[in-house]
Amino acid sequence: MTSIIEKRVSLHKRLGEHQQQNNALKSQIAQLQALANIGTVTHMIAHEINNLLTPLANYAALALNNPDDKSLVEKALEKTVQSCERASKIMESMLAMADGERQEKKNARLIALVEEIFTCLCRDFAKDGITVKIRIPEDLTVWAVPVQIQQVLMNLIFNARDAMLPRGGILSVKARESSDAVQIEVADTGCGIEPGDLKNIFESFFTTKTDGKRPSEHSGSGLGLAFCKKIVDAHGGCISVESKPAEGSTFAITLPKPQ
Ligand SMILES: Nc1ncnc2c1ncn2[C@@H]1O[C@H](COP(=O)(O)OP(=O)(O)OP(=O)(O)O)[C@@H](O)[C@H]1O
Ligand SMILES: [Mg+2]
Repeated sequence: MTSIIEKRVSLHKRLGEHQQQNNALKSQIAQLQALANIGTVTHMIAHEINNLLTPLANYAALALNNPDDKSLVEKALEKTVQSCERASKIMESMLAMADGERQEKKNARLIALVEEIFTCLCRDFAKDGITVKIRIPEDLTVWAVPVQIQQVLMNLIFNARDAMLPRGGILSVKARESSDAVQIEVADTGCGIEPGDLKNIFESFFTTKTDGKRPSEHSGSGLGLAFCKKIVDAHGGCISVESKPAEGSTFAITLPKPQ
């Protein structure tokens, strides 16, 4: 009898110890998850700033090689100023996101956001044999954090370009609105996505752009689409893709209109 009671007491004690260990492990996991989040956000900031700096560096190099072309030099300086302003907005927005701050949404004209992205990129696209077609109604507005929507579109546009290199092709950015939402599409005529990869492409760090496989000089970090999904979800919208290998891909974003 005594031995059964002793066993129960000892089992209770061990259970208590295990529960304590379990709680300690749970809090360690929470701390590690917070650290991993910081790591991902740091990667994403580097990724977004790099997206912005690459075309800027191309412009600056062009101006340096043609110092007598006054209008080109002026244009390069103008773009430097614009891009620095956007870089600081991106930093602000990403740091606020990392701190879990809600950011202010406003009504922004979509065509203006898209044109701002292309002011720095057009030259690069033409050089790569890519024709850009933009079909967005002049007065169409989105209810969004403008700099974040620009980052989303920029990621989709860079992916579209990668998919069309080195052959070139057509990149189209379209938008239309219904009574309760705005639909934006970024489509390319590039290499397309293997059906087996479709379920993975929005996962952080999933990339098929390993060294040597990508026509451009960098390998991918696999953060672009994960970032797009995070932003679109935070806007209460959704992002989806349709793609056929060797034919191209269309990414569709739906953003709800304010009630
Ligand atoms: N337009 C597209 N055409 C073909 N494949 C695409 C396209 N967009 C995305 N993908 C596929 O999805 C993967 C993940 O894209 P994501 O933007 O997240 O990362 P990445 O482009 O590989 O790297 P990073 O964006 O960090 O430079 C890509 O590696 C590619 O395989
Ligand atoms: Mg990408």
